[in-house]
Amino acid sequence: MTNKILVVDDNLPLLELLVLELSDEYIVDFSSCLEDAFLKVKSNIYSCIVLDIHLGKRNGGELVKYLIENFDNPNTIASFVIISGYITEEFVKNNSSKFSGMLMKPFKAEELNEKVKKGIADYEARVNMPTITEEMQESMNQRISLVVDELPSIIEDVKNTHLIDEILENVSLDGDFQKYFQLRTKVIIKNSLAICRALEWHTVKTMEKFIYASYLHDMAILHRPDLVRYKSKAELNAVLIKLDDSDRKLLVEHANIGAEAVRKYEAIPEDVSIMIKQHHELPNSKGYPNKLNSNKITPQSAVFIVAIDLTEAMILDDNFTPKRFIQNAEIKYKGAFFSKVILALKTVFKIK
Ligand SMILES: [Fe+2]
Repeated sequence: MTNKILVVDDNLPLLELLVLELSDEYIVDFSSCLEDAFLKVKSNIYSCIVLDIHLGKRNGGELVKYLIENFDNPNTIASFVIISGYITEEFVKNNSSKFSGMLMKPFKAEELNEKVKKGIADYEARVNMPTITEEMQESMNQRISLVVDELPSIIEDVKNTHLIDEILENVSLDGDFQKYFQLRTKVIIKNSLAICRALEWHTVKTMEKFIYASYLHDMAILHRPDLVRYKSKAELNAVLIKLDDSDRKLLVEHANIGAEAVRKYEAIPEDVSIMIKQHHELPNSKGYPNKLNSNKITPQSAVFIVAIDLTEAMILDDNFTPKRFIQNAEIKYKGAFFSKVILALKTVFKIK
């Protein structure tokens, strides 16, 4: 696959030279201003972004910040090569983990090629699966076995707890992580099953699948409470900014890793592995890790994705109301089966 690169510079003769130099080896898009660069990263996927820091009155760093904070943008894992007329040692020290390369003007074509090559290599390392340690594999296997063994009693428990409100009152963001996670899991189950009922999916098999998926979807990052428990999207963004490459890779891939671990268990229906794999996908292809479009997301995954989102909104959003959640969901979740899920949610919350 040929790598796609975005070059952003407001100096037009230099922009032309950069594009010419890189076009031999890569597919190259270019922008001469930050506004256009923002539009491009919202509709393309780049391996590397060559970015001038001084763009008229604006700063190229705005684009870096945007991509780090917007984890659902596929370019969040793109590499950066920074261009500037003035790069201090302090700047290099503070930013070397964020950028694959820094070029001080004037620079030679060889230097540009070398830095972009490094950027592409860094990007490819991020796209590939992270290393799964024996310890991690062991802890995932233990969790799966536990849920398989406990399934009958979990089903009883789910049948006996009726009100989501009751469960939510017990979800504490400050308390013990295991307790918090247990309760969050229960709310996801209740929300999933409420949507299933509205869709007239009544079988015990369906119930089992959602219970498994709810307990197991984040098991590859359960050893990292900072990635699972956060008090707001802003707090999560602050964590994401500080992650190193291997942690970012783990976060991007945790759905694939969990799905793979579950797939080996015959007792667990295959649909569960698919639901886990797809739990961060979005119908506009801007989810992760596989950037599926709405036609590739299964109906069960669509229910699960919306149920998780609903749970997060209930826990994190102080101003949560079902009506407001549904209004936002109607914009976010379009196409294929998602429209039916939204209709089911309206039935659940008795909203017309
Ligand atoms: Fe997740």
